[in-house]
Amino acid sequence: MPVITNIEDLRVLAEKRVPRMFYDYADSGSWTEGTYRANSSDFQPIKLRQRVAVNMENRSTATQMAGTTTRMPVAIAPVGLTGMQHADGEIKAARAAEKFGIPFILSTMSICSIEDVAANTTAPFWFQLYMMRDRDAMAAMIERTRRAGCTALVLTLDLQVIGQRHKDIKNGLTAPPKPTLANIINLMTKPRWCLGMAGTRRHTFGNLVGHVKGVSDMRSLSAWTNEQFDPRLSWADVAWVKAQWGGKLILKGIQDVEDARLAVQSGADVIVVSNHGGRQLDGAESSINSLPAIVEAVGNDIEVWMDGGIRSGQDVLKAWALGARGTLIGRAMVYGLGALGEAGVTRALQIIHKELDITMAFCGHTDIRNVDKRILLPGTYPVAGLAMG
Ligand code: GLV
Repeated sequence: MPVITNIEDLRVLAEKRVPRMFYDYADSGSWTEGTYRANSSDFQPIKLRQRVAVNMENRSTATQMAGTTTRMPVAIAPVGLTGMQHADGEIKAARAAEKFGIPFILSTMSICSIEDVAANTTAPFWFQLYMMRDRDAMAAMIERTRRAGCTALVLTLDLQVIGQRHKDIKNGLTAPPKPTLANIINLMTKPRWCLGMAGTRRHTFGNLVGHVKGVSDMRSLSAWTNEQFDPRLSWADVAWVKAQWGGKLILKGIQDVEDARLAVQSGADVIVVSNHGGRQLDGAESSINSLPAIVEAVGNDIEVWMDGGIRSGQDVLKAWALGARGTLIGRAMVYGLGALGEAGVTRALQIIHKELDITMAFCGHTDIRNVDKRILLPGTYPVAGLAMG
């Protein structure tokens, strides 16, 4: 077993252990993957200011996200097919999040269902919803979310049509994989994964199969999205979801200041500055560069979070310093899960927390709630209307 000291170590191990089509599904962006890469690389030019001779005892990275206390400003992002990275993946990731003390968000496109996760965890989780054509199915899903005790709903706004990820087409992505020769040969090199899958009955989209009608291929993500997702999604639909749900509403997928203002008007509680991990509009600005203008425009009116490109605690601290009151991690969690199951997700959270805590200390702070832009070297970070990097 290699010694794991950072998220990249987990990625390398996940790449060895997870079947090619599911590893590729997570580790890819749309078209040229330019935005996908920029999400991470645009953190690099941002420089931190080291401060010395400051008492570093009794540090805390704890804060609140959407009114929920969290050990650090990080929640687990909703990731489709998480239960294909590792058997029962969503349950394992939710348990790791609960034990660590951060929120977990379950994807509509998960393998383990809302009910499965609720039955196997105790902390309330949050549920991510896509706007589907079938409003009865939507209402039923919101009701299931309520019955499962979820305390916030995350409505994703940037996936009414799906961005093309070349590898998914080339790999013939489905859940479970089809028994083609190429898949069988690949699966033969992943014995741990196969053993895990043999021990669970959760092999396809648990929230949808048996709940949503009229989909031709039950196993295909692209079939689901093309046939079910509502391309007419509007702010009136957001209002409909808000009324149906009645609880905390988080809008994910905001990239533009104008949309951020409309989100405030919608009465949502939180917006997530996000380009869907570079999986939708390739050529869009990176999340970290989009953040400052949105914080400047609406940061006093709504809680602003961000996701995209976070692979370290330093990235979390930079996003916080630029005004994000929370971050979501998708791939960092997926790599941990694919590498080592629940223990790998825990390891990913420990790594990010430690990097965050130690970096905060080097910057002369003991409480993240006191950290702001002044920990960053002027001229190295993006500002509203002027992206660096
Ligand atoms: C779905 O959310 C995806 O990005 O694949």
